[in-house]
Amino acid sequence: MQQADPYNQYFAKKVMVSYAKSMDKTKTSFKCSNCTYTTIKWIGCCPECKEWDSLVENIITATSNATKMYTHTHAAQLRSLDSIDTQELPRVLSGIGEWDRVVGGGLVPGSLIVITGDPGIGKSTLLLQVAYEIAKTKRVFYFSTEESLQQLKGRATRLKTTDNNLLFSDAAELTSIITAAREQKPDLLVIDSIQNCYINNANTLPGSVGQLREAAFQLMRLSKEYNITVIITGHITKEGIIAGPKTLEHMVDAVFYLQGEDRWQTRMLRAVKNRFGAINELGFFCMEQNGLQEVPNINAHLISEISHAPGSAIVSIMEGSRPILLELQALTNASKLTMPQRVVSGLDHKQVVLIAAILEKYVKIKLSMQDIFFKVSGGFKIKGSESDLGTAFALLSSYFQEPLPEKSIALGEISLTGQIKPINNIGHLIKEAEKFGITTLLVAKNQTIEKTSCTVKRFHNVYELLSLFGQ
Ligand code: TYD
Ligand code: MG
Repeated sequence: MQQADPYNQYFAKKVMVSYAKSMDKTKTSFKCSNCTYTTIKWIGCCPECKEWDSLVENIITATSNATKMYTHTHAAQLRSLDSIDTQELPRVLSGIGEWDRVVGGGLVPGSLIVITGDPGIGKSTLLLQVAYEIAKTKRVFYFSTEESLQQLKGRATRLKTTDNNLLFSDAAELTSIITAAREQKPDLLVIDSIQNCYINNANTLPGSVGQLREAAFQLMRLSKEYNITVIITGHITKEGIIAGPKTLEHMVDAVFYLQGEDRWQTRMLRAVKNRFGAINELGFFCMEQNGLQEVPNINAHLISEISHAPGSAIVSIMEGSRPILLELQALTNASKLTMPQRVVSGLDHKQVVLIAAILEKYVKIKLSMQDIFFKVSGGFKIKGSESDLGTAFALLSSYFQEPLPEKSIALGEISLTGQIKPINNIGHLIKEAEKFGITTLLVAKNQTIEKTSCTVKRFHNVYELLSLFGQ
């Protein structure tokens, strides 16, 4: 009989163990939920995209290819487009005009929507008001994961939104929320906020980016399968992006930002993504004692605050589908510093510096020796160069300490060579300006204007702008 070789025995055992292990092998890796970076060790900050706390544990159970092949799954069903019913469900209107318009003409059944904005800006207030209005005709569930039901009742009493069939819960476990929605099929489900939800028995940690993504995924499935409109609120980071993975923004149907400034009571609801409506649409509200009141006529509100003083120029810009009348305010002062100050808010700092440089070059006024303070009234932010001419007029008006013609509006761009350039789609802007009592238009020499009752003053280059000032 052949003696068993102890070395061979040990070797065979080792092979057996490693084979057994390989049959039931679980591997752990960490994948960034923001980009696709993968590592075997957890780290706090993704080296690829620099996102914090975005690495999510990925447990991979290795199964052989043969096992995979025999795993039973249902075959995906395929259909021709002819057989698909396109009858759309009607949109759900809240009766709050500014909300209905921004969401694209009412809420679409089966959509997942995120409302985000700074803490305390009024997200919960707005949602409670919207939910209350919709609950007058539809079934609405409101899950308050941040505030207790007592707190919520206090708010609802203040908003006078207590007396109808809107149903509340302070449950924050997502599976129980989804189960309730599946069983009772509300038309609208509000979750305030998604960051405070957690999922029991999940592979991911509560509050982690992975869990947030998982929650959004489950809610997306719920909204699509049961035709429930789901609105969630989300926090934003200091940089103004939704806290959590960028993928959250990609996953949902619409994202709305509620913005505003603390000292100014006006709040703007802005659509930044909307699969069912126009983006960059703006809705206006005013935060008052009894909640957010809509301001359908924002221009009347803005124009009432405009002063006819040196340094002030009125411009009009398109925000979404509506023209907005804004006041630009400039203050120029002889500087005592070697590097004069440039303090700008509401407009790109470089744009103001550029217009000041063009004026200095072609009009020969020493703006480089002046401190310049510049702002857009009402906390608005202007992008683009449609307000160039207004910026130049505001600077000149402050420099010469002479006001512009009363009830005038400046509409034009300025090129680096000092030429005044026409702007597109001026018709809308003029029509709205006329409605609010504007009587003089300050525009480029070759600006085409179809019809207006205003006096039109045309300018070829920046040098001609001086004609408005006595100097
Ligand atoms: P809230 O809706 O709680 O903000 P968010 O959910 O975005 O954190 O808004 C809170 C602020 O709104 C708070 O500062 C108080 C103010 N507020 C009013 O001025 N009037 C009201 O009727 C309500 C309900 C809140
Ligand atoms: Mg809140």
